[in-house]
Amino acid sequence: MKTDIKLIQDGKRLDNRRLDELRPIKIEAGVLHRAEGSCYLEWGGNKVIAAVYGPREAVPRHTQNPLRAIVNARYNMAAFSVDDRKRPGPDRRSREISKVISEALENIIIVERYPRASIDVNIEILDAEAGTRCAGLTAAAVALVDAGIPMKDIPVACAAGKIEGQVVLDLGKDEDNYGQADLPIAISPRTGQILLLQMDGHLTLDEFNQALDLAMKGCYTISEMQKKAIMEKYQKVEEVK
Ligand code: CDP
Repeated sequence: MKTDIKLIQDGKRLDNRRLDELRPIKIEAGVLHRAEGSCYLEWGGNKVIAAVYGPREAVPRHTQNPLRAIVNARYNMAAFSVDDRKRPGPDRRSREISKVISEALENIIIVERYPRASIDVNIEILDAEAGTRCAGLTAAAVALVDAGIPMKDIPVACAAGKIEGQVVLDLGKDEDNYGQADLPIAISPRTGQILLLQMDGHLTLDEFNQALDLAMKGCYTISEMQKKAIMEKYQKVEEVK
């Protein structure tokens, strides 16, 4: 994509970040009272709430799987979350994001433990500034832990991309709009298994490997923040006792 905006100047990006630097991230576990588990996450200008309900009997009954639980992640953008008002309700993009997040989570939740059940994961984007699928999945993972859902690991997501011919970590809004490629991934940090990988734009094989490596590093950093948020929640519970 051609642009007059200079996305990198003197080795720094528009928001003053280094090429391999994440936007600031804040994670809080257990913010809602009626959900089984929840998380509030800020990632740059993104603000996200994730809420988990279940495991509970899947309805309608024909959706039940006698061997395992089904995982329904529902990604939703609030009407006020973007510059132009977003028409409420699911569209093609949010259906796609819901599907890829559901599949990523299904591979890490121990679904065999809850036959015929559904585990519902609601992801609400309150403010969007690029990278919302990664922010949503990362928040959903913390909400699942908060809900006590057994998982093989705590999944985590992060993107890398290409702007002005250079591979960079965690694209911001202008970088996403005027950059050349975006590569969001989700992984199981314990094994390095890839749970989600999408790509927008073009990368050479070399650039792809570089971007994958960088996104993985981002994931490991964010994984530590997820664990800290969960520990903080249980510390608070301990103090109240
Ligand atoms: O958010 P993510 O990067 O995962 O997905 P995207 O489809 O690449 O969207 C990039 C960004 O475009 C979003 O984070 C929003 O800031 C913006 N967007 C928008 O302004 N209006 C929409 N209807 C959808 C996305």
